[in-house]
Amino acid sequence: MTTVLVTGGAGYIGSHTCVQLLEAGRRVVVIDNLSNSSPVALDRVLELAPGDLTFHQIDLRNRAAVQSVFEAEAIDQVVHFAGLKAVGESVEIPLAYYDNNLAGTICLVEAMADHGVRDLVFSSSCTVYGDPETVPITEDSPIGAVSPYGRTKLYVEELLRDVAAADPSWRTLLLRYFNPVGAHPSGRIGEDPTGIPNNLMPFAMQVAVGRLERLRIFGGDYDTPDGTCIRDYIHVVDLADAHLAALEALPRVEGCRAVNVGTGTGSSVLEVVHAAAVAVGSEIPYDVVDRRAGDVPCVYADTTASEELLAWSARFDLDDMCRDHWNWQRANPHGYVASTEAR
Ligand code: NAD
Ligand code: WQD
Repeated sequence: MTTVLVTGGAGYIGSHTCVQLLEAGRRVVVIDNLSNSSPVALDRVLELAPGDLTFHQIDLRNRAAVQSVFEAEAIDQVVHFAGLKAVGESVEIPLAYYDNNLAGTICLVEAMADHGVRDLVFSSSCTVYGDPETVPITEDSPIGAVSPYGRTKLYVEELLRDVAAADPSWRTLLLRYFNPVGAHPSGRIGEDPTGIPNNLMPFAMQVAVGRLERLRIFGGDYDTPDGTCIRDYIHVVDLADAHLAALEALPRVEGCRAVNVGTGTGSSVLEVVHAAAVAVGSEIPYDVVDRRAGDVPCVYADTTASEELLAWSARFDLDDMCRDHWNWQRANPHGYVASTEAR
């Protein structure tokens, strides 16, 4: 049985990926320091997909602890999610982002090299493209991250390219996700942001469930059909499937390759808000306010590489994403925090 190490496996995308991996018959080993997640997520992963999952609550920067996980478990492949991800926070505390995202990756890659593990899938982001000159965005488009967070993704991509160039036995896929939303259709696992959400879908859903009063739409005067920004939203279950496809594709990969993971369809903020209102069954009150610093008008993926290299494409549309996100939010209005489940 193939054993997959999932760093950050208790988090939003990691927990959904663990479900898909277990369902596909993989043995799963999770490393997570729970800095942005709850252990209840892993209980629910096992409830949804009973299987062989081992959890190590350690920080990826703890070199000795990471080495001992590789000594204890016969790991074949690695999916590396663990990292800090809030763009605004990264501007305020850049060193914490560089330390966590770069030092964590270095400890992981060292342990992999020391134990003969060379198959890696890394969570990169469409944020590496900055403000694209043209859409849809291909993997060859110019790179230019505009935040410390984005730069940590760029630097890790470069680091992994250098490692693969120095030792051709490495096979690495850099998955550049677009905008993950939605939740497992069961409503048992989903996104549980700490504090007030930064992102559109969780904010809109917290308004719908009564935790927040009104949504602010940042900018109605962009050069887009309805004046609001366009993004490529992707269902988190599709994204989790893409990781399984990436692990299966690794034997066909030479060196280090970047692959966009999106649907190829752009949706405006107003389209998302209207689709969310349909899913919820009532209006989501909003005001159109000033633009948010750093937002770019229009981002969506060219999906040719994911179709050809991963043999994967998204199955779910915006209505599915809103339905499943709402299903999770309604069943867990305060996320995992209020859960009485004990680990
Ligand atoms: P998340 O915060 O829900 O999950 C990340 C997990 O990593 C958390 O469980 C956290 O506790 C853990 N973690 C963080 N630092 C750690 C460390 N030093 N040691 C051990 N565990 C650590 O985030 P997510 O949305 O699931 O994102 C997963 C990855 O995908 C991140 O690398 C993120 O940058 C990337 N990504 C996310 C998005 C998005 O919009 N959600 C988009 C593109 C890329
Ligand atoms: C989407 C649209 C906002 C909140 C972020 C990261 C990116 C990647 C994905 C990690 C924009 C608008 C939002 C709100 C709004 N993550 N909006 N009101 O900024 O495209 O991407 O997540 O790698 O790096 O930057 O996503 O959900 O924040 O915003 O009007 O309360 O919704 O202006 O147009 P974004 P988002």
